[in-house]
Amino acid sequence: MSKSLSLEKLANFCKTRGFIYPSSEIYGGLSGIYDYGHYGYLLKENIKNAWIRNMINERDDVYLLDSAIFMHPTTWVASGHVATFDDPMVDCKDCKHRYRADHLLAEFGVEIDDKATTDEINQKLDELRTNNKLFCPNCKSKNLTQARRFSLMVKSNLGCTVDSISDDELTYLRPETCGGIYLQFKNVVDTLHAKLPFGIAQVGKAFRNEIVARQFIYRTREFEQMEMQYFLHPSEMEFKYNEWKEYRWKWYLEYGINETSLKWYKHEKLAHYASDAYDIKYNFASLGEFAEVEGIHARGNWDLSQHTKYSGMTLDYYDQEIKERYIPHILETSAGLGRFVMMFIDNAYTEEIVNDDTRIVLKLDKRLSPIKFAVLPLFKKPDLQNVAKEIYHHIKKYYIAEYDDSGSIGKRYRRQDEIGTPYCITVDYQTLEDNKVTIRDRDSMEQIRIKIDDLDTKCEALVQNNR
Ligand code: GAP
Repeated sequence: MSKSLSLEKLANFCKTRGFIYPSSEIYGGLSGIYDYGHYGYLLKENIKNAWIRNMINERDDVYLLDSAIFMHPTTWVASGHVATFDDPMVDCKDCKHRYRADHLLAEFGVEIDDKATTDEINQKLDELRTNNKLFCPNCKSKNLTQARRFSLMVKSNLGCTVDSISDDELTYLRPETCGGIYLQFKNVVDTLHAKLPFGIAQVGKAFRNEIVARQFIYRTREFEQMEMQYFLHPSEMEFKYNEWKEYRWKWYLEYGINETSLKWYKHEKLAHYASDAYDIKYNFASLGEFAEVEGIHARGNWDLSQHTKYSGMTLDYYDQEIKERYIPHILETSAGLGRFVMMFIDNAYTEEIVNDDTRIVLKLDKRLSPIKFAVLPLFKKPDLQNVAKEIYHHIKKYYIAEYDDSGSIGKRYRRQDEIGTPYCITVDYQTLEDNKVTIRDRDSMEQIRIKIDDLDTKCEALVQNNR
């Protein structure tokens, strides 16, 4: 079993197997934007559902929300995004390549905190320049600009209809989904009678004008986030923070990520309102390094205080039990759905030598697999095809399934292995005599023979039995 997986190989695999396509490819593509094909869409939906299960089915203190992408522009002034949501960028004056300054520094072995000021970054760049060590990694030119701030906010021309908003004020595509959660906090308390501590979770699109979006779907300009904001009394923060950290960590293990492929990264330089911030990093074979997939942050009461200040609506909570009115503090878990898709494919991608041949198999947790069952007649013969189609149409009522009768059975098994289908059901000539089919397991390649009449029960048991 081996794992040689470059980013190029992963992107090519995802494209050729119908998971992920570059956007607008016939027009030359659009950098940092991707489309999900049939299998990618199904995998993404299964990951999303696994996250929602973790938030909703397995707890009883989190509610769902689906807030709009467009929000009142003051939202992003209050949150600080309009003034400060930017990245430092450096341009190569010769080849016009653009770099995120912190990433450029990292290429020369200089680590800098992601909260570093522009002055601090320029000081580090100047140190490299003085020592004649700074050059453009693309064309080797030393003609690089100073670091300058580049706003990540994506602007829109959506017409503002509120009288108090002047024409020249902009609307934005939301840069993170949690903004909508803060603004609906009061409505959730008032309408669902939610008692603290409780969380609001949502999955949705976010948009950022990333300076460099060159790591396939790891960093894109349009992406989906899965965020949960947990509202609580400040005295509960430390306990709940540790509880949520452990809770989210276990989710990765439950869905097949090995503990050795994960690590915590503690942010040393915190935002002034934050008391703790950790990221979960996954060791991407395709990136050759551990990289962030989720952030877990203790945010104080900054968000609700800012929206209270800018809206004039007090976003506080009266706690009947302790007879205290206060602005709740927030604990956030924030993950990228696209990054999870990439992580699960990266993790599942396996090459094995079978009978002197390389078998590519996507060893996804079966609950995440896009297709659960493939029904295959052994040969393209009407008597086998008819039985196989009947089974397929029946199974399809309950599971996402595929029927395939083109090419040799070996090739069809390989094709299903590559998209991570856990079970292939094969109809052969023996089936016509004993009404039995074989079920082949993706990982062990073992086959069992069972009666068609028992298929329903067997399929249900196989899908319930996670891995
Ligand atoms: N509300 C907090 C927040 O948005 P973040 O660290 O900027 O924090 C959270 O983003 C998560 O969203 C990241 O851990 C990552 O998984 C995902 N994410 C952020 N920017 C992304 C991008 N440009 N492309 C894909 N995923 C991204």
